[in-house]
Amino acid sequence: MKVSPLTGVLGARVDELDLTPDLAAAEVAALRSALLEHEVVVVPGQSLTPPEQAHFSRLLGDYSPVPFVQAVPEHPEVIKVVKEATEPEAFNFGGVWHSDFSFLDAPPAFTILHALDVPEVGGDTVWASMTNAFEALPQEMARRLEGVTCVHSASASYSPAQQELHSGLSGMTIRTSESAEATQEHPLLCTHPETGKRSLFFNGTYVRGLRGIGIGDGSESGAKEELRLLRWLHEFSTHVRFTFRHRWANGDVVLWDNRSTQHVALNDYAGHRRELNRTTVAGSEPID
Ligand code: SIN
Repeated sequence: MKVSPLTGVLGARVDELDLTPDLAAAEVAALRSALLEHEVVVVPGQSLTPPEQAHFSRLLGDYSPVPFVQAVPEHPEVIKVVKEATEPEAFNFGGVWHSDFSFLDAPPAFTILHALDVPEVGGDTVWASMTNAFEALPQEMARRLEGVTCVHSASASYSPAQQELHSGLSGMTIRTSESAEATQEHPLLCTHPETGKRSLFFNGTYVRGLRGIGIGDGSESGAKEELRLLRWLHEFSTHVRFTFRHRWANGDVVLWDNRSTQHVALNDYAGHRRELNRTTVAGSEPID
């Protein structure tokens, strides 16, 4: 297989590789290593049924259960990300900066998205490298953020108050629940379990609060500082200089590492259909 970087920051294209459930161990290892190095890899020209995609995903690790979103009928480990041409007003699934299900105690390591029917223009996905963002932290800020913990929760996306938002998508069944209010704390500065690289494990959607060094301590000044820092972290970590933007074509398979990136799906394709199948590979508890 041939790996070609797509930016100087993150993202690479992989050619001369056919993603099948019976991919040789050496090829799986080479793909994993490209994924760990480049954080997002694009493998064009693939054609996987839901069961084939699920089996291929398992070559990279165990299945990571998907809360709130109903799987496709063809396979319990695959979800469909779909917005019809007639649903321009509906919420764009994944349309806010996030790292997949970071509110879980062990968030998914990798996500695999396979484009089936994508608009000719629009509907791109953008990723930001959290290892690059970590490396670019001003020294004093990096010192200050050591020991800070993020409070992750699905409440802003999947609490029952959001049901109407999700019900506008006819091709996806999303069931909100009170369980979305549960919180999970993870360190803000994490060490990648496979590469050993440090990164900012942050995303403005699921991180609902911060704890540590005088912030989130219940005081008025702590609350103000917490809000200020949440805004700063969001703006800093999603700055264009840390990003890679992918223009989808049918057949693309894009794999990304949720431990070192966050991403957003752009909602600029009103009047066009966009359909992709998604699988997730289990990860471990984030460590500092
Ligand atoms: C997601 O966040 O999983 C969906 C991303 C996309 O549709 O581009």
